[in-house]
Amino acid sequence: LSGGIENTSSWKDSFYNPRTGEVLGRTASSWALILLFYLVFYCFLAGMFALTMWVLLLTLDDYVPRYRDRVPNPGLVIRPNSLDITFNKSDALKYSQYVQHLESFLQSKKYNDSQQERNEECTEGEYFLQDDSGDMRKKACRFKRASLSVCSGLSDTNFGYHEGKPCVLLKMNRVKPIIGLKPIGNPYINCTVKKENPIPMQYFPSEGKIDKMYFPYYGKKAHENYMQPLVAVKLLLSKEDYNKELPVECRVEGSDLRNNDERDKFLGRVTFRVKVVE
Ligand SMILES: *[C@@H]1O[C@H](CO)[C@@H](O)[C@H](O)[C@H]1NC(C)=O
Ligand SMILES: *[C@@H]1O[C@H](CO)[C@@H](O)[C@H](O)[C@H]1NC(C)=O
Ligand SMILES: *[C@@H]1O[C@H](CO)[C@@H](O)[C@H](O)[C@H]1NC(C)=O
Repeated sequence: LSGGIENTSSWKDSFYNPRTGEVLGRTASSWALILLFYLVFYCFLAGMFALTMWVLLLTLDDYVPRYRDRVPNPGLVIRPNSLDITFNKSDALKYSQYVQHLESFLQSKKYNDSQQERNEECTEGEYFLQDDSGDMRKKACRFKRASLSVCSGLSDTNFGYHEGKPCVLLKMNRVKPIIGLKPIGNPYINCTVKKENPIPMQYFPSEGKIDKMYFPYYGKKAHENYMQPLVAVKLLLSKEDYNKELPVECRVEGSDLRNNDERDKFLGRVTFRVKVVE
């Protein structure tokens, strides 16, 4: 029995010893020192963290992306998003994927006419320069879907695929990261098919022009409604062009934008194949 009491008292003693005033084997001042140490230590860590974040946020500017594209030249991409456009012009099922892709691309919120109403009517042939003072937000130039004419999908909802004269839309990519790009000259799109007798092509807007008013680009946040201008090319194929794989190459010409980089086939140019069967 006495042993039991002893055990209890020693357990109690180990929690709180009234003789020495120790709690869990330490005196109050010893505990206070430990608490103080951790308090200072964690405050220091939190301070370091806050300082680091603060410095990091200082170096970030919302309006100018920190990391810019290494290559200050845009690439070219096509819509429909396929480098191998093959279809049977008499079979709507075969070309509907391309037609639908073009339609949904042009319907997408940025090229949609109701969105465009909110954009500026800019002066053609001039850079749309906006000063840095005041509002950081930049206006975007209007791009009218109708300027793509028979390739707009408005008058011809099949974009010419049903008649074997398909439309392809071209747009520059990598423009987004290229803040402040101002091409010198008058950029336009020129497409060619490598073959003896050239294939006639129609360009919309006329001459495949990429208007200067769509430059410069001010960055994702500042230039929220920015949209890249499109150029449509309609391949006026005839019967003798059917059943052949036609390699089409389109380039940005007329400006200082590069289009002949040996290592990058998509810098200022794009090559795709078209094959129409009847
Ligand atoms: C193209 O489609 C038409 C109509 O469906 C069909 O008669 C013709 O055989 C098809 N052509 C080829 C090469 O598949
Ligand atoms: C534009 O988009 C809105 C909503 O996304 C849609 O309601 C409207 O019909 C579209 N307008 C055109 C002209 O496509
Ligand atoms: C388009 O490119 C072809 C081949 O490079 C060239 O012969 C033709 O003159 C160019 N057309 C224009 C309008 O630049």
